[in-house]
Amino acid sequence: MLNSKKIGIIGTGNMGEALISGLISSGSSTSEKIICSDASEDKLESIKEKFNVATTTDNLEVVKTSDIILYAIKPQIMAQVLRETAPYLDMSKLIISIAAGVPLAAIESCLNKDLRLIRVMPNVAVAVNEGASAIAAGEHTHKEDIQLAMSIFNSVGKCIFLHENNLMDAITGLSGSGPAYIFLIVDALADAGVKMGLSRQDALSLSSQTVLGAAKLLIETKIHPGQLKDTVTSPGGTAIAGLHTLEKGGLRTTLINAVEAATLRSVELGEMMIKNFANGEKKK
Ligand SMILES: NC(=O)c1ccc[n+]([C@@H]2O[C@H](COP(=O)([O-])OP(=O)(O)OC[C@H]3O[C@@H](n4cnc5c(N)ncnc54)[C@H](OP(=O)(O)O)[C@@H]3O)[C@@H](O)[C@H]2O)c1
Repeated sequence: MLNSKKIGIIGTGNMGEALISGLISSGSSTSEKIICSDASEDKLESIKEKFNVATTTDNLEVVKTSDIILYAIKPQIMAQVLRETAPYLDMSKLIISIAAGVPLAAIESCLNKDLRLIRVMPNVAVAVNEGASAIAAGEHTHKEDIQLAMSIFNSVGKCIFLHENNLMDAITGLSGSGPAYIFLIVDALADAGVKMGLSRQDALSLSSQTVLGAAKLLIETKIHPGQLKDTVTSPGGTAIAGLHTLEKGGLRTTLINAVEAATLRSVELGEMMIKNFANGEKKK
């Protein structure tokens, strides 16, 4: 289904490039079906060289020639680019935004017409085809639109569909911001290894692989993390001694608090975005 659609990507930075790469390498789309735009000609040249896709500095060309338009630009310029492209957006096109912290309501207030809109919150791991993404749909989207968006983001990792739009802030707090928490944990584990006498390189390599292996076990076996924890915790052994220390340090509560704080910050930023997008509209 996705294979037959012309996909336009506006912005070929980290996320835009990762999406082009994922779409082509997974076979979900082909070079001939992708067109992308960016402000930087150098970036476009490099993208063309790597993926053999059509490129242009003209965002309107992307919108005019695509069935699906994916906005992969910074949140700060979303309103400006949405307004620039708005005259060519209509119900025949599926519009997808991945701008962090920009709620569907802000996009709707900016475009001010009925459109098939989807918001996606991916994370940085799309760059290695292991992204964790969630999608939320606007009121005019069709079932097929959701399937198309899911196919795009499943090509660069795993994607879930949210029935309630307002859970996007929780997604931002959990999987959107999550890689930062895990980087901190891996860095701390590596520090611990160094403290116990390992070289920095070995400590970092083993901590990263430990996170990868634990995640793979969880995903592939589908066994509950509590049960997996129990299977590696022998009576009077080393793991339970370590776990007791983590519980004393409040790791579980700290992580819950971190996701809650990030979620609340996302709500705050989203409200600011809605106001800013609407103000821009009034000034016009
Ligand atoms: N990176 C993440 O982990 C992550 C996670 C979740 C969501 N997101 C969202 O994904 C979006 C893209 O993030 P990113 O990390 O890929 O950003 P990025 O690397 O800065 O990519 C954005 C690209 O858009 C280009 N651009 C600037 N103005 C433009 C215009 N008027 N028309 C077309 N292209 C333009 C930029 O060119 P210049 O560099 O020359 O300005 C840049 O190449 C953001 O909204 C972000 O919130 C990112």
